[in-house]
Amino acid sequence: MRVGIGNDHAAVEMKNEIMAYLQEKGYEVVNFGTDTNESVDYPIYGEKVAVAVKNKEVDLGVIICGTGIGISLAANKVPDIRAAVVSEPVSARLAREHNNANIIAFGARIVGMEEAKAICDAFLGAEFLGDRHQRRVDMISEIDKRNHTL
Ligand code: RB5
Repeated sequence: MRVGIGNDHAAVEMKNEIMAYLQEKGYEVVNFGTDTNESVDYPIYGEKVAVAVKNKEVDLGVIICGTGIGISLAANKVPDIRAAVVSEPVSARLAREHNNANIIAFGARIVGMEEAKAICDAFLGAEFLGDRHQRRVDMISEIDKRNHTL
């Protein structure tokens, strides 16, 4: 499985450790940056990962900023992206199983390193359950289409 990963300056250290952890587990990880502690704007990296997921360059995405909130808000502006911000692994699994989330987001200033790894394991190891959940996910896409202004 190919996993896209992106982050802002608040999460470089966590991104590096998560990337090594996932590679060790056999995932192919595509790094969209940032890779230095220089202050950057999280929407840039949320969009990069989201576009890669949308274009199927990667299967799923992992995005990290200080809280996970800003970068997930940015990613969710890309059509067909469902980025879920979580702080523990049960929600990460359910985001995939029930909501067909294709990106998981979390905060480097919110969750510890071991919790972050557990979140990735839960998200990447789960499958969308379809069935009644498909109808609800379709309803989310329809909101997007009804309210698209471009
Ligand atoms: C950067 O200081 C911080 O605002 C960002 O990492 C994130 O937490 C935004 O949601």
